[in-house]
Formats: sequence, C-alpha cells, structure tokens
Amino acid sequence: MNAVTIRTISELRRAVGEARRGDRTIGCVPTMGALHAGHGSLMGRARAECDFVVVTLFVNPAQFNDVSDYERYPRTLDADLAFSDARGVDAVFAPSAEEMYPREQQAFVDVGEVAEFMEGRFRPGHFRGVATVVAKLLNIVAPDKAYFGEKDAQQIAVVRRVVTDLNLPVEIVEVATVREPDGLALSSRNARLSPEQRQMAVALFEALSVARRCVEAGERDTATIKRCAAEVFLRFPALRPEYFEIADPERFVPVNRVDGPVRLAGAAWVGQVRLIDNVLAIPGAR
Ligand code: PAJ
Repeated sequence: MNAVTIRTISELRRAVGEARRGDRTIGCVPTMGALHAGHGSLMGRARAECDFVVVTLFVNPAQFNDVSDYERYPRTLDADLAFSDARGVDAVFAPSAEEMYPREQQAFVDVGEVAEFMEGRFRPGHFRGVATVVAKLLNIVAPDKAYFGEKDAQQIAVVRRVVTDLNLPVEIVEVATVREPDGLALSSRNARLSPEQRQMAVALFEALSVARRCVEAGERDTATIKRCAAEVFLRFPALRPEYFEIADPERFVPVNRVDGPVRLAGAAWVGQVRLIDNVLAIPGAR
C-alpha cells in the first residue's frame, strides 16, 4: 500500500502541509465510500491534474434525512483503501463521526434557491448536511481543486454556490456520470438491488433518455416532455417515480418551457432503494 490512511484532522493537515511544499497542487475527492468506477473516474481525473490526491471517506450523518438509510449505507473500508491505492491516491482521510462532529454542530451552511427543488424538496435537510460537510472537508484538506460527479448535478450546483458565496479558494471540477453498459448510473446503493430490481432500475435512465430525445427533437412544452417519460415508467411498474423534473441547468429551478439547455432529473424507488439520475438536454442537438 502506498496510500496512507489518516484518521484525524491534525494528521491530515500535517500531511497536506508537507505535500504542498513548493508549488505542488492538492486535489480532493470527497466520497462516502463504497467506492465504484464512478468514484474511480473522479480519482483518475484528480490524479491526472494534481500532484497530491486526497480521497475522503466519510458517511456523513448530517445529510441523511432517513436514519435507516444512514444505517444501511454500505461501509466497505478495506476494499475502499485498496481501491484508492490502486488508483494512485496519496492519502485517504477516513475520520470517525466523533472526529468530524466532536460536539453538537451549531454552525450550518444553508443554501437557498438552488437547494429548494427536486432533491431539496424530497430530502429535507439533505443539502444543508452536504453543504456543511463539504465546507468542513474543504477547510480541512484545503485543496486547489475538488472533484464532483455530474451524477449528483444538483449537489454540484449547491457546492458551487457554497464556494462562490463563502469565497472558498478552491476550483470545483465536474466529472461525467459513469454508467453500466445498459445505462444505469453507478451508485453505491445499487449494491442493495436484487437481480430482478437491478433489471428494472434502468427504467429511470430510459425515461430520462426518452425525455432528452423529445427536447432534442424540438419539444418545448415541459408537460408534454414529462408525459413521454411517464409512459416509460408505466412499462416498469416495479419502479415508483418520486419526481421527474425539467430545470434550469444553473439555478436548478423547474421551468415550464424549454428555451435553452435544461437539466432533466428524476428520482425513483425500487423496493427500499432510492435511485437518482439526471442528463443535460440541448434543444435542437439532433
Ligand atoms: P458519494 O455518493 O460517495 O459520491 C462521491 C462523489 O462521486 C460525488 O461527487 C458523486 O457525484 C460522484 N459519483 C457517484 N456516482 C458517480 C457516477 N456513477 N459517475 C460519476 N461520479 C459519480 O456525493 C457524496 O458521496 C456526498 O454527498 C459527499 C459529496 C461526499 C458529501 O458527503
């Protein structure tokens, strides 16, 4: 193993301080572990662009609006360390909950409009927890660049607002969604799908793809576009859609008419597993 595993904030700061000597750049990939090729893609990009790469592994209790989702979240520390090491990561920061939240947290980062709809609406408090832990992690690691996946496009928009509005000296890099051959976006939660549920799960991406083709073919009325997506869901009754939204790609506020690029985003339940996915759609792209 070449990647060092670090458990405490003070040790991490020391390691990054040493690594920063000269004009060496620091890259950070925040994750909750249960690593897969999606996370691997972020690590690969960080490795290519930075001299010293820190991966953070922390299942953040503050962003789970559902306690049982937090408890059931997969924890695979040994495999995650080997995975990070194999991708040339320099340091893995895996703090305990007590290290990150030694006492009751009283200062939170609240983000406005961009965190209001879609994930923000259906997971109350989620983005407050994400924004707060990302601000903490960026303050701890102090990277030049931090890497986030398009898979969670609204999360990136939230993080960008935190960085801009709080003047954090870090560049946010967006990395494209990594998918299974059938189109299902890789997710740590996919591990909890049965083989039958796994087959059904692709319906979310299919609905997004059908809607994207609608936009590309020139459809501007969002109600019509949503109907196309709804027809796909009807063919997969095992999937319970939670929302399917068409939003401004920067503000993440739903639109009624398509007047430019839009972010199509959806969430659906398969059994006890909640899936989310999104794609960018550009009118007239076909
Ligand atoms: P987690 O779900 O572990 O994801 C860590 C990063 O990997 C996120 O930026 C996410 O968008 C990215 N990612 C996940 N699946 C991906 C895929 N299929 N393709 C490309 N990138 C993918 O997101 C979080 O953790 C947390 O909210 C966190 C930012 C770490 C704060 O706790």
